[in-house]
Amino acid sequence: MRRSHILGTGMYVPENVVTNHDLEQMMDTSDEWIRERSGIVERRFVEPGVGPADLGVEASKEAVENASITLQDVDFLIFATLSPEHYFPGSGVFLQRKLGIQGIGALDVRNQCTGFVYALSVADQFVKSGMYDHILIVGAEVHSSGLNLTTEGRDVAVLFGDGAGAAVVGAIDNDERGILSTHLHADGDYAEQLWVDAPSSLERPWMSKQMIEDGRVHPKMEGRQVFKHASLKFPEVIIESLESNGYTTADLNMLIPHQANYRITQMVAKKLGLSESQYMSNIHKYGNTTAASIPIALHESLADGRITEGDLISLAAFGSGFTWAAALIRW
Ligand code: ACO
Repeated sequence: MRRSHILGTGMYVPENVVTNHDLEQMMDTSDEWIRERSGIVERRFVEPGVGPADLGVEASKEAVENASITLQDVDFLIFATLSPEHYFPGSGVFLQRKLGIQGIGALDVRNQCTGFVYALSVADQFVKSGMYDHILIVGAEVHSSGLNLTTEGRDVAVLFGDGAGAAVVGAIDNDERGILSTHLHADGDYAEQLWVDAPSSLERPWMSKQMIEDGRVHPKMEGRQVFKHASLKFPEVIIESLESNGYTTADLNMLIPHQANYRITQMVAKKLGLSESQYMSNIHKYGNTTAASIPIALHESLADGRITEGDLISLAAFGSGFTWAAALIRW
């Protein structure tokens, strides 16, 4: 059977660094509180006028170059984000236009923190089936424009940052390497525990001054519920992916978890019995970049030589929906 693999990766983060001390000037918070609860030291924020598709351009070009193909070889595009430029159309077509690859299909994935793994799973099926040869998958977020950067929104605002990561998924002529399996889950019972309520097509008008005044246009999170479910579902789906391929956690060379919160990553690593060298964390530099966090962390792991050919790699995520997902890859 034809197998797919990640042929190249790329990333891009905006230049503007926002430290915890910078946030102290905007709201009642402290560097100590943020570091202790999340492990975050700084994050990047875009300048006004820059959207996720703009960030995706740079990440995509690097991924294409690292895959040793050209943009003209890309035959399908998948864009994962929870912070699109516009209500519709999705960011995929804007990225496509900026890359100058109009005409190919562009699919938008709305799965928040698990968006990149969902996108990877779709790409894997399309490549395995022979439908496409080189799929560009991008996870990119501009959170900074949607956060409530005042004391009222501090529990959420301090956690998130802007950035983009990308990967080219294509066929590999080697039975031993590539994406072994992907595992996707969701439970809509928890939809309101991490969400943005408005604007909403349930209401007339779908957007109002009242929604803004009531704070309904900013993300809301039941932090403790997220923590509880993430610490259960991350290990569960990672073990599911390992067991379905006949492996155990002892076989795992590197876990690239969605960078939700360093405390969640530590909890997952502890439950799985992973040493520090077996998992990746870069949340201190970028905060939670949602759909972008896994491809950024993967790209940095590759660039740092922490992943080498033949390694068993797990990509795993948990997030709004709730959704959770994993991919197991023989690099
Ligand atoms: N700075 C200072 N104080 C704050 C801040 C802040 N940014 N945010 C909240 N507080 C205050 C609260 O108002 C509260 O004050 P009070 O006790 O006077 O009422 C107090 O801190 C609560 O602190 P904790 O008891 O530590 O709260 P908790 O333990 O629930 O920690 C946190 C909150 C960090 C959100 C925790 O629940 C958590 O880690 N949850 C996981 C959520 C997460 O990481 N989400 C990531 C995004 S989702 C995803 O990617 C999957």
